[in-house]
Amino acid sequence: MINKRTLHRVAVFVSVASTICILLFCQTSTRSFLTDSCVCNCAMDSEDLLWFSQRYKPSANVTLNTKNSRLDWQTYWWWRSLQNESTVANYNKVVEVLLSLFPDKEHYSDSSPSRCRTCAVVGNSGNLNGSHYGPLIDSQDFVIRMNEGPTDGFEQDVGSKTTHRVIYPESAVDMDETTHLILLPFKILDLQWLISIFTTRHIDLTYMYVKPSIKADRNKVMILHPAFMKYIYESWLQSHGQYPSTGFISLIFALHICDEVSVFGFGPSKEGAWHHYFEDFGMDSNGGPHDGDFEGKVISKLHQKHRITMYKGWW
Ligand SMILES: *[C@@H]1O[C@H](CO)[C@@H](O)[C@H](O)[C@H]1NC(C)=O
Ligand SMILES: *[C@@H]1O[C@H](CO)[C@@H](O)[C@H](O)[C@H]1NC(C)=O
Ligand SMILES: *[C@@H]1O[C@H](CO)[C@@H](O)[C@H](O)[C@H]1NC(C)=O
Repeated sequence: MINKRTLHRVAVFVSVASTICILLFCQTSTRSFLTDSCVCNCAMDSEDLLWFSQRYKPSANVTLNTKNSRLDWQTYWWWRSLQNESTVANYNKVVEVLLSLFPDKEHYSDSSPSRCRTCAVVGNSGNLNGSHYGPLIDSQDFVIRMNEGPTDGFEQDVGSKTTHRVIYPESAVDMDETTHLILLPFKILDLQWLISIFTTRHIDLTYMYVKPSIKADRNKVMILHPAFMKYIYESWLQSHGQYPSTGFISLIFALHICDEVSVFGFGPSKEGAWHHYFEDFGMDSNGGPHDGDFEGKVISKLHQKHRITMYKGWW
């Protein structure tokens, strides 16, 4: 039954397949050979490295845990001045309750030279509209989104996976069981709100109405450290603006927990318009408490220096 031609085909197939296997194997073994010193972000020259190391503090406390929750007074007062609170609870007491409710650990302290964790940071810019970045975003290990940025109905352009979502009470939305809620606290009431949404659900007002409860997995909650915000403000923004934007904080957060960072949905659209991909009306590029221009310059520098890859949409 088996004729010569079939045999020949099988032979060709086997040899092609084994060549491919060998090539793949070589690639992997060369890669793991190189990994001892560097897998990701290997392209920096010494000048770039200097610029980066003047800003990046690898020892920064990124999230709150019982070991690092005390704030020195400069950090406390800097943080307390971000948003006015009329009634102020005791920070240490609130944090004690907080850390008894949520996982108390050092998240992602498993960094090693051979690890190559890839992350997508997905902002909410209208430049995502029509970008077809969805599959590229979903192929990253972590996908970090912020505030209300939806995926339903926008999968082609923004993807469907969300491993982390950075929010504060005024921007909170429901999350599914695969998503880590990351609280970006601007005031003590924000910490109390986080306790409340998982317990008494009695807080529905900050300086505006906030959701008294949201859907989220309590065991996946993480709280950004006030000292982390101050470090970003001073070290990365050289104190420009009043405090860093959620987008900028999320990007630096990614630099600390990931080895390769791809950035999507930051900046204006192709037409120079500032709006969200999920709504038509405009947003302000540079208003409010943030220095959008300065943040934009730092982000461009990070791209030039190969620490992040910026995806700006198709143009
Ligand atoms: C992180 O927190 C610990 C404990 O509070 C503190 O000793 C340490 O100095 C902090 N790290 C940095 C870089 O501030
Ligand atoms: C805080 O309150 C003071 C005085 O009431 C006001 O001048 C300032 O603009 C407020 N700051 C913020 C961030 O709302
Ligand atoms: C997104 O693009 C489509 C077509 O390209 C357009 O119809 C729609 O209005 C755009 N949406 C926004 C929010 O710009």
